[in-house]
Amino acid sequence: MQEKMVKKSYPEVKEEYKKAVQRCKRKLRGLIAEKHCAPIVLRLAWHSAGTYDVKTKTGGPFGTIRLPQELADDANNGLDIAVRLLEPIKDLFPILSYADFYQLAGVVAVEITGGPEIPFHPGRLDKVEPPPEGRLPQATKGVDHLREVFGRMGLNDKDIVALSGGHTLGRCHKERSGFEGPWTQNPLIFDNSYFKELLSGEKQGLLQLPTDKALLEDPIFRPLVERYAADEDAFFEDYTKAHLKLSELG
Ligand code: HEM
Repeated sequence: MQEKMVKKSYPEVKEEYKKAVQRCKRKLRGLIAEKHCAPIVLRLAWHSAGTYDVKTKTGGPFGTIRLPQELADDANNGLDIAVRLLEPIKDLFPILSYADFYQLAGVVAVEITGGPEIPFHPGRLDKVEPPPEGRLPQATKGVDHLREVFGRMGLNDKDIVALSGGHTLGRCHKERSGFEGPWTQNPLIFDNSYFKELLSGEKQGLLQLPTDKALLEDPIFRPLVERYAADEDAFFEDYTKAHLKLSELG
């Protein structure tokens, strides 16, 4: 059955706001290209959204990740750097909510590194209350943990595998997560190489987290890894849907 793209309906924003979104998008493209910071910006957008709890309707992409309390969560180590890098652009667009701004930055990070163009709908409002600590996934765990954490957000098995492909960008830093190294040979290019590397096994200089390797052990996850490794268009299509859902949780 064809999965439908779910369009979120945020409150309608004014023309002036829509124009600011377009101008901000251009400024973000420039900054992210200049600073080569697409990976950490994507991680910021994902960690901002990934705290959502569908049952209690708490957490999620509502701008709270910039607050010291949320940045102090161990899972967010290093993300203060992304908040600081983006701040001069945010200063130019006081009309935008932080909630929209960080999700827009995540969409731009994927697009300018060669990934798919993810639709962006503005209208998120900033919240003041950070989510409780400990909602983001732990890299040392396995498939049950992944299903529990992503299920809590309201995301499904396909979303888990597609979104894991976000590790096509960037690297682990020992001082931030305890892990070290990139997942692919080209960590500033968004493509399907994460899945190809995952299937080809461990290699000198590249890294696979326990949660990445766990995708190979599961009878539902593994065929999706194989499909995305063989067909980049299929990956981009499913990634777009999953990223859009993630960015519009709540
Ligand atoms: C499936 C569960 C996930 C786990 C356990 C996980 C874990 C991690 C860890 C440990 C790091 C290294 C942080 C550092 O040392 O700097 C990392 C980095 C990263 N993650 Fe994930 N992640 C997950 C899912 C995702 C998703 C869904 C996305 C985006 C769609 C994503 C995007 C990234 C990116 C882009 C980086 C690189 C950041 C950089 O280079 O600074 N991750 N992740």
